[in-house]
Amino acid sequence: MRLDPHVASGCIVTAVEDHWTVGQVAGLAGVTVRTLHHYDQVGLVRPSARTATGYRAYSAGDMERLREVLAYRRLGFGLREIADLVDDPTTDAVAHLHRLRELQLERRDRADAMVAAIDRELGTRARGLTVTPEKQLALLGAQLYDAIGGAYTTTRRTEPRIAAQIWDALGDARSVLNVGAGTGSYEPADRDVTAVEPSAVMRGQRPVGSAPCVDATAEQLPFEDQSFDAAMAVSTVHRWGDVAAGLREMRRVARRVVVLTFDTDEPGWMDRFWLTRDYLPEFADVLATFPSLAGMADTIGARVEPVPVPWDCADGLFEAYWRRPEAYLEDHVRRAASVWTRVGPQAEQRAVHSLADDLATGRWAAHNSDLAGRDTADLGLRLLTA
Ligand SMILES: C[S@@+](CC[C@H](N)C(=O)[O-])C[C@H]1O[C@@H](n2cnc3c(N)ncnc32)[C@H](O)[C@@H]1O
Repeated sequence: MRLDPHVASGCIVTAVEDHWTVGQVAGLAGVTVRTLHHYDQVGLVRPSARTATGYRAYSAGDMERLREVLAYRRLGFGLREIADLVDDPTTDAVAHLHRLRELQLERRDRADAMVAAIDRELGTRARGLTVTPEKQLALLGAQLYDAIGGAYTTTRRTEPRIAAQIWDALGDARSVLNVGAGTGSYEPADRDVTAVEPSAVMRGQRPVGSAPCVDATAEQLPFEDQSFDAAMAVSTVHRWGDVAAGLREMRRVARRVVVLTFDTDEPGWMDRFWLTRDYLPEFADVLATFPSLAGMADTIGARVEPVPVPWDCADGLFEAYWRRPEAYLEDHVRRAASVWTRVGPQAEQRAVHSLADDLATGRWAAHNSDLAGRDTADLGLRLLTA
């Protein structure tokens, strides 16, 4: 549209094309004029021009910025976070479109997986079968991995030093049940392994020729008492609906139980890792309902030993890149660790943005200079053996 001569950025402009009035923008974007005035007042989207009569006028650039603001808003971002995102000089319109696309796909995947889980439960109920509370909650765990599991194999693989510690704990067990097995990263090749994995996406990614895999959850293992020499569970208990029930099931079906988990008992555990301490405080909420390490150990009568994370850890665990911080800026690295999906896109984007800033300015290096000379770190991984 063409407006009359107007004032732009304090200057009188005599000929203007492609500017839109606030009313037109509100109509096109499907928001109220009041919303646009608010965005203007807080500096989020300032119309860069005014008509001679003093009305706001939006340029094509303003419209592009508004589109980004509204798209992030629909994804649930707060206005302050959106301001950080759209003011980032290193992110142009195309980069925003890529990021928005990924966030929308992730949201769609999660919604699809949730619908599939609901359909499964409706089907079960329609057949007159009872769905136990454990099964209902366990579905959420599997459902998350159905949504995010597709990215798993890009960085998740066996870390030989962690594997050696787990296999050592298995002792002389010949038959081993791997619960929450995923793609089988820590299954010992020299023993008779049976896997249990509730996510179809994860089961589908198990390599050809890997151990037979049963669709079940830890809370209801479909095996007789004492069917295995050992049962192992690696990086999975935090996903179970009822951890104590799952551990008791492992104890029931196997003579030895080995669990790799995470210690949140120690006060100040958030400070162990710079990523949770300085960038992702939301991780505390994610694990707020997590059972205590002592409670888990008590449930199965286990002893506890620390599992150090090597600086060049081959398995892309959440903690794996403690000495390689740039890795956390990579989408494929984050997508392979469920923590990032669980904290939600706002917290994730804020953390990544702030880490990127600190890496660029040297602030991260200054705060974490003690890490440079270290080969392993105790970031709270623990091995329970019973
Ligand atoms: C981070 S992955 C770990 C996979 C594998 N143990 C490894 O170390 O690579 C967690 C796995 O736990 C599975 N899981 C989620 N809820 C479960 C439950 N209630 N019982 C058993 N496994 C579950 C997920 O589907 C996912 O494959």
